[in-house]
Amino acid sequence: MKVIAVLNQKGGSGKTTIATHLARALQIGGADVLLVDSDPQGSARDWAAVREDQPVPVVGIDRPTIERDLKSLVRKDFVVIDGAPQAADLAVSAIKAAHFILIPVQPSPYDIWATADLVDLVKQRIEVTDGKLKAAFIVSRAIKGTKISAEIAEALSGYDLPVLESRITQRVSYPSTAAAGTTVNDADPDGDAAREVLALANEIKRLLI
Ligand SMILES: Nc1ncnc2c1ncn2[C@@H]1O[C@H](COP(=O)(O)OP(=O)(O)OP(=O)(O)O)[C@@H](O)[C@H]1O
Ligand SMILES: [Mg+2]
Repeated sequence: MKVIAVLNQKGGSGKTTIATHLARALQIGGADVLLVDSDPQGSARDWAAVREDQPVPVVGIDRPTIERDLKSLVRKDFVVIDGAPQAADLAVSAIKAAHFILIPVQPSPYDIWATADLVDLVKQRIEVTDGKLKAAFIVSRAIKGTKISAEIAEALSGYDLPVLESRITQRVSYPSTAAAGTTVNDADPDGDAAREVLALANEIKRLLI
């Protein structure tokens, strides 16, 4: 079982959008997946509840007991944790439970600066685990045709954590499919949005081997 935590204390960075899509993309790829909503706002649970025939199982663990609680849950191929904004104790708990930390960052310097505390926590944990924990940034809500995403990737390199090659673009299809409790991969499986999500899922799978 591999646990992927999508974390960033900065609100609105795209955690829930990425966590729901990543969970669904891994599932479409044939894996047995659980999405853990660690945000007391319950956004991932709200998303799941819209659809009666929701294929993605979602549970809420919004107390800093994620590591312990996951141990007592049924085995899955992948567990994706949707992180909470702020709440440092929840972030620590998710970091301890995770094999891979995915940090979505919007292409703006404010968002890069705001990740400093999280990066410190993650790096400490990487050290404690002798490098078994992996972590990477993903550029989230990238605006197509702008150079800022490339500049951001360069600015992020100062943090000494890799930046994934795949990125998630700003597209109306993300909120519009979320409103229906579904994903871009369900709405238009061959579209550009679905393709970028599958690329993300495949890149993470490769890095987790
Ligand atoms: N790639 C995208 N394209 C268009 N809209 C997006 C994209 N990613 C996120 N959004 C929108 O931006 C808002 C914030 O995204 P989301 O809820 O995924 O972020 P979050 O990090 O989970 O926020 P919070 O910190 O509140 O949990 C939502 O309205 C969402 O629909
Ligand atoms: Mg969220």
